[in-house]
Amino acid sequence: MKPRIKALSAMVAPVALAAALIGVVRAQEIYAGGYRQQTGEDLYRGLCQGCHMPDAKGAAGAGAYPALADNVRLVAGIYPITVVLNGQRAMPSFGEELSDEQIANVINYVRTHFGNRYKDAVSPAAVKAARR
Ligand code: HEC
Repeated sequence: MKPRIKALSAMVAPVALAAALIGVVRAQEIYAGGYRQQTGEDLYRGLCQGCHMPDAKGAAGAGAYPALADNVRLVAGIYPITVVLNGQRAMPSFGEELSDEQIANVINYVRTHFGNRYKDAVSPAAVKAARR
């Protein structure tokens, strides 16, 4: 008896394209996921102190990071609102990544800590109005 030679046919399993199921994730959502902090203190710790330092006294080295502590330039809330929204030279903008509320919260935190005693809190509406 001759051994039967069996031809093996390769079975190609159909592959479902996972890609078809993956929605497009907008960059905005990725950023929003990265900046979940809501309180002014958490936002400061997460986003600002890397440059302005934990004590907000700033630093000079490869670049110059101004002190936010005891800073008379924060007297008018619109100034930090504009800087945080739009950035300024080496200061990055946060207008697209943070909500009006988050920006107001972090500014209010800075304006009432680190030796700053500005009592007139900035509102999310003021941040919204300053967006261009
Ligand atoms: C990548 C580093 C960096 C980060 C992060 C950063 N800043 Fe700044 N910031 C700077 C630099 C540099 C300047 C100076 C800009 C200039 O030359 O006008 C500045 C300036 C400022 C000023 C104006 C100060 C002044 O005396 O004119 C404010 C207010 C400020 N930053 C707030 C913040 C807040 C609030 C955050 C967090 C949401 C933040 N910064 C995050 C680097 C940074």
